[in-house]
Amino acid sequence: MNVRNNSLTSTYNCARGVLGVILQFVRGGNDGVGNEPCDDSFVSSHHEVYEPCDDSFALVDALLADRTNLLLHHPSICMEIGCGSGYVITSLAVMLGDEEFVPYYIATDINPHAIKVTRKTMDAHGVYAELVNTDITSGLEKRLAGSIDVLVVNPPYVPSPEDEVGCEGITSAWAGGENGRSVIDKILPTADNLLSERGWLYMVTLTANNPSEICLEMRKKGYASRIILQRSTEEESLHIIKFWRDSDSQLELNNLNYWTKMVRN
Ligand SMILES: C[S@@+](CC[C@H](N)C(=O)[O-])C[C@H]1O[C@@H](n2cnc3c(N)ncnc32)[C@H](O)[C@@H]1O
Repeated sequence: MNVRNNSLTSTYNCARGVLGVILQFVRGGNDGVGNEPCDDSFVSSHHEVYEPCDDSFALVDALLADRTNLLLHHPSICMEIGCGSGYVITSLAVMLGDEEFVPYYIATDINPHAIKVTRKTMDAHGVYAELVNTDITSGLEKRLAGSIDVLVVNPPYVPSPEDEVGCEGITSAWAGGENGRSVIDKILPTADNLLSERGWLYMVTLTANNPSEICLEMRKKGYASRIILQRSTEEESLHIIKFWRDSDSQLELNNLNYWTKMVRN
């Protein structure tokens, strides 16, 4: 994760390159956009908005690797929580873009600058999402409950002092509180409320976030999970986890609860 968010030109060019590759991959090559990694319109920027970094690339690579399943899934509504520059939601929209049934896209961010930057990034790629400046999905839960088929999240996951969580500006992009779990732990129940019966959640986590505990938390809510991409950089070890509702997980848990109660009594 790019904690300082200083102007890392090489990282940024890399982001444009990755999106270019996706465009080429999806559209089958010479589209005039994918071959222009230096085109400023690829991913917009603002000094207060998180620039695409290793974590963003890992999430998009995981989505790309799962693209065939995503296409077969025919999602009606796809959502991103914490869209930043718009790199991930734009990549997802481009990746699924040639389908007959185009999903509806929604993205949120607590940082108002991120909303403006995401709009520009999406416009530059000819894709659209409803963009909402809000805390996680506040104000949208009633309307969207049980209707999101694909939810993607690259949360602020870096362990930090609790008072840095949700700070104004760029700090909120990475500050994750104790064990980097403060925002993640708020997102999990929200995801459970928003995901449809066939909903999938893709989330970036760090080893320090204790991914297995996150999977257990979700298992208690009836989700199976799998690490679909693991990537170690110089700074961190990232896991992209995919969650989906699974009746066996729920059954297994009910049985476990039943036997635990029996043993206690
Ligand atoms: C690590 S950045 C990821 C940005 C982008 N998705 C990417 O992968 O490049 C985390 C993003 O979440 C946003 N964010 C942090 N806390 C949030 C909250 N409570 N609700 C909504 N967005 C939040 C930040 O502003 C930031 O844009």
